[in-house]
Order: sequence, then C-alpha cells, then structure tokens
Amino acid sequence: MKYHAGRLLTMWYRSGLPYAVDPETLETLGPADTDGAPDRISAHSRPDEHTGELLWFDYDLKPPYMRYGVIGPDRKPRHAIEVPLAGPNLPHDMAVTEHYTILHDFPLRPDPDALAAGRYKVRFYPEQPSRFGIVPRYGSADEIRWFEAKPAYMLHVVNATGRRHRNRHGRHAVPHPRRRDGPHRRAAAGAHHPPAPARLPAVRMAVRRRPAAPPSA
Ligand SMILES: [Fe+2]
Repeated sequence: MKYHAGRLLTMWYRSGLPYAVDPETLETLGPADTDGAPDRISAHSRPDEHTGELLWFDYDLKPPYMRYGVIGPDRKPRHAIEVPLAGPNLPHDMAVTEHYTILHDFPLRPDPDALAAGRYKVRFYPEQPSRFGIVPRYGSADEIRWFEAKPAYMLHVVNATGRRHRNRHGRHAVPHPRRRDGPHRRAAAGAHHPPAPARLPAVRMAVRRRPAAPPSA
C-alpha cells in the first residue's frame, strides 16, 4: 500500500489493477484506473515524495513481459516503456534515485514447462546472471543499461543512491543491505535471548556492464 496524490493505492505484488483507499477512513474508493493511468502495476511501485510522482513497474507472463513508467502528481501517466526481456521474470522491487530507476531481472523465473501445462511455479537458473537495468527516469527502452552480477535473488530495496561506488577491484558496486540476525537465524542457532536490534550492513555486489541483449529464457 502506497500513498500517492491524496489517496492510498493498494497494489498486487504480481501486478494488477490498483485499488484506491481513503487515507483517513480506509474506505475502498474503487479501481484506481482513472485518468488514463495504467491498469497493471506492481505492489513495489514507488512514490517520489519530492516530485509527487509514482514510479511503477509491471510484469506479466505474456509480452510485454515488463513495463516501466511514471504517473504524475495529477494522477495522469507521464511516461511508459516496454522493457525488453526474452521471457517472463519475477521482479519483486525496483530502486529509484533522483534521476534514474534500477529495474531488476534475476534468474528466478516462471518455469516454462509448468506454464505450458497450465501451472505456475518458479525455477532458479544458476547459470544465468542477476541483471540490473538502469534507465533515466524518463528514458526509452534503448537507454536501459544492463549490468550483471552473480546469480541471486533479491526481494526488497531499502535505498539507492546516484553516487558512484567502487569496490577494491575497481568495479562499480551496488549497496545491498541484508539482515544478519533475523529470527530464523536465532532459532537455527538454538538461541533464546531477546531479539537483537536489526542491523543493515552494506553488502557490496560486484557488477559489470553488459550489452543490452537479454539472456535466453
Ligand atoms: Fe514485498
């Protein structure tokens, strides 16, 4: 649920039509498809509190497999592009900075055999890289610059910055926060002490620039 342009938007993590909710009464106002806004966006679309915009992404099992766009503070669509992918993927979040949006394409994808049988399950492809697509906020599909990292999956982005980072090997790196003291880890260790404060250490992920060609599904 995100606040945008005077109303709460309830959204679906696997994308769908958002519903508007009154921010004070929590009364459901109805489908938030007015003023030409897109009919499908993902739950981790992100409001920009400085500009009043809502940056959104959408993904689907059929082409276009992923879209990205911007809705203005007037609730009218400002920008939308189709993100070139070779097949369906499962992005959970994205990151935004003042001028750029970072789209996710990780090697956890819907299993094509299951889809062909009318079912849905996900499959991890360890031979494929993680990919981050950096696009100017109003950039075209041709302006997406893809960067690769080791195969992994990431759910949520805490923050992002436009500043350049380099690790000790001189590569660009993406700060990647991770909780190291979650309840599952304490339970696994057999510990019965009070929860420790959450820590968000910065874990750097080596990334490298790659041409725009997406990997085969
Ligand atoms: Fe989430």
